[in-house]
Amino acid sequence: MSAWLIAANKHRATRILDAEVISPTVKTFTFKDKLCAKAKPGQFLMLWIPGVDEIPLSIYDVNREKGLISVAVKRVGEATKALHDMKTGDWIGVRGPFGNGFTFKGGKALLVGGGVGIAPLTFLAKELAVQKISRTVVVVGAKTGKELIFLDKLKRLCGEKNVLAATEDGSYGVKGLASTLTESVMTKEKFDAVYTCGPEPMTRVVLDCAERFGVYAEASLERIMRCAIGICGSCTIGGYRVCRDGPIFNINQLKSVKNEFGVWKRDFNGRRIPI
Ligand SMILES: Cc1cc2nc3c(=O)[nH]c(=O)nc-3n(C[C@H](O)[C@H](O)[C@H](O)COP(=O)(O)OP(=O)(O)OC[C@H]3O[C@@H](n4cnc5c(N)ncnc54)[C@H](O)[C@@H]3O)c2cc1C
Ligand code: FES
Repeated sequence: MSAWLIAANKHRATRILDAEVISPTVKTFTFKDKLCAKAKPGQFLMLWIPGVDEIPLSIYDVNREKGLISVAVKRVGEATKALHDMKTGDWIGVRGPFGNGFTFKGGKALLVGGGVGIAPLTFLAKELAVQKISRTVVVVGAKTGKELIFLDKLKRLCGEKNVLAATEDGSYGVKGLASTLTESVMTKEKFDAVYTCGPEPMTRVVLDCAERFGVYAEASLERIMRCAIGICGSCTIGGYRVCRDGPIFNINQLKSVKNEFGVWKRDFNGRRIPI
């Protein structure tokens, strides 16, 4: 194990400095951690909720000078509910950052995020803006308009007209799926790279679409994570360990696991469950 990974894997205690409700099911949390503040877009951390569990979360923003990190957390089960109930000043534990992060390709980028999956892409949009990538277009999808997050921030980073939204109930933006909107965007304009994060059936359609248009693409994957450093084997897909080899995979890697990607994953007991 590298010296960097040994340091990243040490548990650090820190306090929640800010907690903000940003949708009916998502809250952002900001805290101090020097190591995680050095993270690249697409990397994740393990956040320990004392007495409850430790869960993987993508980093959605960093302030490198102040050593601050923010995560956006959707309330889905025991650990995320307990975290949502925590307040400014409460103690949490952190390990990380882990994983590889997105690859910068230059030129024109298309970012496609579904639900809370837009979180790591918001961090990516910020970095692309700093690197003055010629144009970044973002497609954001959610079930309803109330569940769309980070729209204003993305519009500030990428320009108002470059942020497109799709909602399943049609309450905001185009009615339908983010993947369908992505296909129509790619029909009209050629991109140099596509980056996607969200529900796996959506990311699979986006990758298939990128392949048809001959565009380089990467997707962020989620699997059950325990160790986060490639040891326990709970996060495998094909011969990959998502925590160590991912969570960002390119189109060629995902083609090599096409019987699993978007099809099935393992639960906490190692049993296969359909996606
Ligand atoms: C690399 C990565 C990045 C993630 N980033 C975010 C993020 O930015 N924001 C966010 O809200 N969620 C993110 N998740 C998902 C988040 O980890 C789970 O929602 C959380 O662990 C659920 O815990 P729970 O106890 O509330 O729910 P549970 O009742 O335990 O589970 C609810 C759902 O979450 C899945 N899940 C539970 N534990 C894990 C785990 N340890 N690893 C992966 N999936 C799990 C379960 O399969 C189930 O589908 C990420 C997951 C991974 C692997
Ligand atoms: S979480 Fe243990 S190997 Fe990936």
